[in-house]
Amino acid sequence: METIKIAFFDAKEYDRSSFINSNSNGEFKIKFYETRLSEDTCPLAEGFDVVCVFVNDDVNKAVIDKLKDMGVKLIALRCAGYNNVDIEYAYEKIHVVRVPAYSPYAVAEHAMALLLTSIRRIHKAYIRTKDFNFSLNGLTGFDLHGKTVGVIGTGKIGRIFIDICRGFGMKIIAYDKFPAADSGIEYVSLDEIWERSDIISLHCPLTAENKHMINAETMEKMKKGVVIINTSRGALIDSEALVEGIKARKIGAACLDVYEEESNVFFHDYSNHIVNDDTLARLISMPNVIVTSHQAFLTNEALKNIADTTFDNIREFFERDTCSNEICYKCANLANCNQAHEKKCF
Ligand code: NAI
Repeated sequence: METIKIAFFDAKEYDRSSFINSNSNGEFKIKFYETRLSEDTCPLAEGFDVVCVFVNDDVNKAVIDKLKDMGVKLIALRCAGYNNVDIEYAYEKIHVVRVPAYSPYAVAEHAMALLLTSIRRIHKAYIRTKDFNFSLNGLTGFDLHGKTVGVIGTGKIGRIFIDICRGFGMKIIAYDKFPAADSGIEYVSLDEIWERSDIISLHCPLTAENKHMINAETMEKMKKGVVIINTSRGALIDSEALVEGIKARKIGAACLDVYEEESNVFFHDYSNHIVNDDTLARLISMPNVIVTSHQAFLTNEALKNIADTTFDNIREFFERDTCSNEICYKCANLANCNQAHEKKCF
């Protein structure tokens, strides 16, 4: 079989090293492009068998048509979420695979890191002591022990986050569209999550149905001072409503690893620029908001798993009739579409 050629979009330094390491025997021919995949950059995939993309590459209808015309056989997502791919349109045109799990620990641990940083004011203390300011004024936090955390989405990451919270002696309530039977988790309605939680952490995928699930109306139902953590997808939260909720002192703190307009700014250095996004600038200006730029996945373990699984996905697709990590709109709508995962989706 001829060497499989991969056009790798939105390549960062850490991607290159992990993918080059995992391909040390030169099994695949990889061309790394710094640019994202879009309608304009699509021609760069000419002559390649696979495009490898990440969370902010825009795989819309026009891109899918062009890739198909060029003879690209596979879209290999090197991430778990696939809301940036029009999977319904891709059906029967081009196959899509993803890395469903690479290190759920990385993301769950980052969520807890953000929470602890925020409520114990570590971000403030770090800057103070760097400047030899040893005052404690304004650094008072609160214990996590005994607090109620509402976890939305109890899949791989949500469950690990729950375990971590249990270790802190927190009370756990959860909401999931498909609750896990016999998990011992106390499932409640979304309204109960809003009403009872001291901390709310989002661990569900972004879908058309749950876009802006945290909005002005749902924030109204929350406890005063609630802490919101989002390591899932930015558009789960209406960011403008969040700004208003914080200004009104209803929301006590926000820990955001994702942001709904992140594709315009995240992963780039704009330290010498004026950022045009007023909502993001306002959020970052607030002392009780912590923003990291979609960094939760970024551990050595996760990067190795992402590269290894992506190559396994590609190998499986070209060498066998199965495609274990394929995703199509049918399996996305039926949480456990076994039929689809026994062989290729179409
Ligand atoms: P998973 O597929 O294992 O779990 C997702 C859970 O959400 C499932 O239990 C599912 O039933 C539930 N769910 C689906 N629709 C829902 C809805 N409308 N409301 C409530 N629950 C719903 O996914 P995993 O691996 O735990 O990842 C969760 C999310 O984390 C991903 O969708 C992705 O958006 C995000 N993520 C973020 C990363 C980062 O670096 N910040 C890295 C990896 C994932």
